[in-house]
Amino acid sequence: MFFHGTSRVNERGHLEIGGVDVVDLAKEYGTPLYIYDVALIRTRARAFKEAFKKHGVKAQVAYASKAFSTVAMVQLVEEEGLSLDVVSGGELYTALKAGFPPERIHFHGNNKSRAELEMALEHRVGCIVVDNFYELQLLEQLSRERETVTDILLRVTPGIEAHTHDYILTGQEDSKFGFDLNNGQAEEALRQARRSGALSVLGIHCHIGSQIFETTGFVLAAQKIFQKIAYWRETYGFVPQVVNLGGGFGIRYTSEDDPLPASQYVENIIEEVKKQVAELGIAMPEIWIEPGRSLVGDAGTTLYSIGSRKEVPNVRHYVAVDGGMSDNIRPALYEAKYEAVLANRVLDANEEVVAIAGKCCESGDMLIWDLPLPKAEAGDYLAVFCTGAYGYSMANNYNRIPRPAVVFVENGEAQLVVKRETYEDLVRLDVPLRARVRK
Ligand SMILES: Cc1ncc(COP(=O)(O)O)c(C=O)c1O
Repeated sequence: MFFHGTSRVNERGHLEIGGVDVVDLAKEYGTPLYIYDVALIRTRARAFKEAFKKHGVKAQVAYASKAFSTVAMVQLVEEEGLSLDVVSGGELYTALKAGFPPERIHFHGNNKSRAELEMALEHRVGCIVVDNFYELQLLEQLSRERETVTDILLRVTPGIEAHTHDYILTGQEDSKFGFDLNNGQAEEALRQARRSGALSVLGIHCHIGSQIFETTGFVLAAQKIFQKIAYWRETYGFVPQVVNLGGGFGIRYTSEDDPLPASQYVENIIEEVKKQVAELGIAMPEIWIEPGRSLVGDAGTTLYSIGSRKEVPNVRHYVAVDGGMSDNIRPALYEAKYEAVLANRVLDANEEVVAIAGKCCESGDMLIWDLPLPKAEAGDYLAVFCTGAYGYSMANNYNRIPRPAVVFVENGEAQLVVKRETYEDLVRLDVPLRARVRK
């Protein structure tokens, strides 16, 4: 069994996180419950920042808030001195509510609405990552109306797709995001933006994939980008102040995953950018990255209560929990794998291999297919590890299941940072039928 961060087994044989017994948390806040190990988030954030600092490279580490966006989380990001990547008016609103400095916010998205762009301009976010020609023209128009020059990055697709250990080189990447680097779109975007006078191109952005365990993809992406920069400098005199290589740094969900330390990703990226810059004889740009999962993924644990069982003789033992795809859709969506323990009997010997079922009316609502556990009974608690990224942020009300509460734990203290939804919350936006005259 592998524990992350401050997780450990206490003298009662219970799982403890941040110095707090999770069984006590279940009793106080109910289940399902998302529990975040704040110290581990801080450790992860500092590791990325320190790696740049060690090499004296100017950088911004922007937390990709799509992984888990709440006011408290954004405040924690601010405490750690990171920047913030938002992809919607809602994430931007959350950041502003949290008091996050707008100048350190980067606004992403492949279909930002006029209202979202206006909101970003009104609050003077640090930069807008422009994704397509429609946005380029809209942003130019809005900037001109405000008589302002807007800092932008151009999001490009470098023709590299990376997932875990695989990276694929594609001539023309089939992606809904960004300007293609190979077919002339990125160059045309650069020309249009620079001609506009209302947009200032700070640099180039790319994001090559997710849950990546090797640095090759990032190095290749940097090479592709600098090949173009060499030409753009010759042709247009363009030298980027910023090169943003996105997020996607892998984490350990199960014992099969073997992620690299943050420092390794950062060092290899710096090494390649320095090499490219030296060959071109241009000033070193700032390097920006956007980790999401790798900042919060393994810091999150979901605690469930176990309820019903179903035995299918000689086939499977189903053990059902009081949540499922409503609080963690990743297994259903991507066949994501997780590990878990009985939080109230961590040291008991495993006696059976069970399948953990959610409570949603969907056969695919299975959280874990083969989990060795002690004989689990109703009333036991199951702790599923590494649910901190894309768990709460993708949570939904399927079957009208209220979304769970979220607690932060640190130094023996727990703080409720998102309240559990109530049934009343579920119908808050519903509008009843108008009274009708019955025939
Ligand atoms: C542009 C961009 N940046 C950063 C991220 C964060 O990725 P991860 O959570 O895998 O680090 C994503 C994820 O989709 C993304 O699309």
